Amino acid sequence: MRTGIFITGTDTGVGKTIVSAGLVLALRQRGLNVGYMKPIETGCPLVDGEVLAKDARFVREVTGIRDDIDLVCPYRLKAPAAPSIASRLEDVHVDMNYIVDQYFQLSLMHEIVVVEGVGGLMVPLNNNDLVTDLILALGLEAVVVARPTLGTINHTLLTVNMAKMMGIGVAGVIFNGFGKEAIGLPERTNPDEVEHFAQVPILGILPWLKDLDYNALRAGSLLSEFSERININSLLPKDDEY
Ligand SMILES: Nc1ncnc2c1ncn2[C@@H]1O[C@H](COP(=O)(O)OP(=O)(O)O)[C@@H](O)[C@H]1O
Ligand SMILES: [Mg+2]
Repeated sequence: MRTGIFITGTDTGVGKTIVSAGLVLALRQRGLNVGYMKPIETGCPLVDGEVLAKDARFVREVTGIRDDIDLVCPYRLKAPAAPSIASRLEDVHVDMNYIVDQYFQLSLMHEIVVVEGVGGLMVPLNNNDLVTDLILALGLEAVVVARPTLGTINHTLLTVNMAKMMGIGVAGVIFNGFGKEAIGLPERTNPDEVEHFAQVPILGILPWLKDLDYNALRAGSLLSEFSERININSLLPKDDEY
């Protein structure tokens, strides 16, 4: 039984958090009990003496998820750097087994858990493990979030092919932020080109939403745009095939 889906991206800042929030909302609209996990978040500011995980806060706020923050985001690190570096500065060891345990707890509480990665696939989490090791340890398929703009074919093919090489299933690609920059030839042609060469489904293209505000914790039209434009049928929980 699929119990989760891992949201990775071609880079940091491509829209993993927004896509994760949209996916939680869209899956819930289908009647599912959905959880969210951001196993490691770096660049967390200190607010009123608390280390604030902003991605986890955004998704919890706009989806109404109330699971304990220590389950949703067990590693909240201050330095705006890769987890391996940020954790070293705080003398914290990022432990894959601990993350898998917390994920297991969440998966008992929900029919499906949307897990947001950190940066892209080749980001180090500690001295030994990359994001790919985490995806494999969790046993999840990945969705790749990509930019729609010039350069994305290269980044997306690198990401999809690395996932496949490592034995990670790629459920599909979501292009995010369409229309943030002028829409030209690359934006119109990149999805078909990626689909042809990556040989994975394009799940859809999410526009840049002017009424969405990450810092003000406002989702705006995220649910309606996401459910209209992104095909989540292949992401629904399914029994394993034998
Ligand atoms: N489709 C979108 N519409 C409006 N703003 C977006 C959209 N996608 C991303 N953003 C904004 O861009 C920034 C980076 O997106 P985010 O989801 O945090 O990226 P990542 O999680 O990959 O680092 C955030 O401030 C977010 O609000
Ligand atoms: Mg994020």
